[in-house]
Amino acid sequence: MKLCSFVILTILLRNISAANILIVGLLDSVSHRIWYEQLIGGLVEKRHNITLLSYADAKLKVDNYTVIKFDAKPQEIMDEIQIDIINNEISFLENLRQLWMWLTMTAEIDLKSDSLQTILDYPRDKFDLIIFEIFNGQHLYSLVDHFGNPPVIAISPMGLSPNILDAMGGHSFSYYPIYCSRYNDQMNLLQRAQNWIMYLIDNYYKWTNIPRLEILAHDKFGNDITPIYDIEKRIQILLANYDPILDYPIPLPPYIIPVGGLHTKRSTP
Ligand SMILES: *[C@@H]1O[C@H](CO)[C@@H](O)[C@H](O)[C@H]1NC(C)=O
Ligand SMILES: *[C@@H]1O[C@H](CO)[C@@H](O)[C@H](O)[C@H]1NC(C)=O
Repeated sequence: MKLCSFVILTILLRNISAANILIVGLLDSVSHRIWYEQLIGGLVEKRHNITLLSYADAKLKVDNYTVIKFDAKPQEIMDEIQIDIINNEISFLENLRQLWMWLTMTAEIDLKSDSLQTILDYPRDKFDLIIFEIFNGQHLYSLVDHFGNPPVIAISPMGLSPNILDAMGGHSFSYYPIYCSRYNDQMNLLQRAQNWIMYLIDNYYKWTNIPRLEILAHDKFGNDITPIYDIEKRIQILLANYDPILDYPIPLPPYIIPVGGLHTKRSTP
C-alpha cells in the first residue's frame, strides 16, 4: 500500500505543470498595482503563465506575463463627470454615489471594448484559474462561465471593506471601523451604531448597483448568464491586504487569508 501511494505520488509530482492564470485587475492605482504585480512576479517565478486585464501596461517586465489593456481611462472619466472620489471633504454618501457612478461608466466602456473581445476569442479551456481583484470588475464575472468554470479566487489590495466582507461571508460589524471613518476600535455605543449603519449603507450601494452592472453585462454575454452574486459565491479564497498585527482585530473565516504587506520587498543592506 505504501509503495502504491509512493508510486502514485511520484507520478503526480512529475506531472505538475505551469498553470495559465487570468487575473482581472483593472484598476491602475499605484496602491493596487504594487500589490498585485508582486503576486504576479511570484507566480511567474513559479513558472505560471499570467494574463492580466488592466487599464494600464505592465510595469513589471518578465516573461510569461501578458497584459491585455482595456481602453477605459478611469482618470479622464473622473475629470469628465467632475467627481473626486478621493476627496475627504465630501460626505460618505456622496462619495459612494460617485464611486458607483464611476464604476458603472467604466464597466460600460469595458464591455464594449475590443480588448474584451480579444480575451473572449481565447480558447475556452485556456485558463486553469481566474483571479479577480475584488474592488471592481464584477461586470466581467461572466468570464468564469465563458472559460468553463475554472476555480476562482479573489485578491483585495484594499483590505477588508464592507462589500468584500459581504461577498465572502456577510458580516456587518459594529466594532471594526469602516475604511472611510475616522474611528479606531475604541468606539462608544453611538459611534458603533453609526459605524454599523455605514456598513449597511456601503452594502446597500453594492446591492443596488450590481444589478445595473448585470444588465450591462447581458448585452455582451447574453441573457442567460449566471448572476453576478452566484459567481461571487464561487470565490474559494480571498487573499486580503490585512495584517492582524497592524490592523484592528476582526474574526476571519479560514478562506480569507491575510497577506498584509505582500508588496514589501526584502531591503538591501
Ligand atoms: C515561460 O514559459 C515557458 C513555457 O511554459 C517556459 O519554458 C519558460 O521557462 C518560462 N519562463 C520563465 C522565466 O519562467
Ligand atoms: C501564455 O499566455 C499568453 C497570453 O495570454 C499566450 O499568448 C501564451 O500562449 C501562453 N503561453 C502558454 C505556454 O500557454
